[in-house]
Amino acid sequence: MDQVKFNMDHGPQHLSEETVKMLIQRSQGAKEQAYCRYSNFRVGAALLTPDNRVITGCNVENACYNLGVCAERNAIAKAVSEGHRSFKAIAISSDMSKEFISPCGGCRQFMREFGSNWDVFLTKPDGSYQRMTVDQLLPFGFGPEQLHEERV
Ligand code: THU
Repeated sequence: MDQVKFNMDHGPQHLSEETVKMLIQRSQGAKEQAYCRYSNFRVGAALLTPDNRVITGCNVENACYNLGVCAERNAIAKAVSEGHRSFKAIAISSDMSKEFISPCGGCRQFMREFGSNWDVFLTKPDGSYQRMTVDQLLPFGFGPEQLHEERV
């Protein structure tokens, strides 16, 4: 049943340093594909599935500016369309040398759809990172479970 496959929360993973490094590198590779001719702000994302597959995404902007899509949302939409609904982690990369790239509110909500207890690696181009969970990035978030709560 759909509901059962949905939102499997894997909990914060204790990913090896090697796996984290690999995922960050994949997000940096995805960043190379960024289509960001309006902002010139490249972003890449790489998702890790429970069976250790990696699905990447980049931001894709549009001449109709408001239609642009973030890298994280693109990666999640790609993953879901390929049959993945559960994630261990996502790494996000940008070209900011002094700040960790932090996902926008919309992308936090998009992540929350697939659980609140998985890892988000905010990174810098030198490979350094800050690990957070979806729940830390979006406390008191709204998710699919709430749709099944008792109502008046
Ligand atoms: N962007 C992302 O793709 N992810 C983020 O975490 C922050 C912002 C994109 C959206 C837009 O294409 C560009 O970066 C500037 O906002």
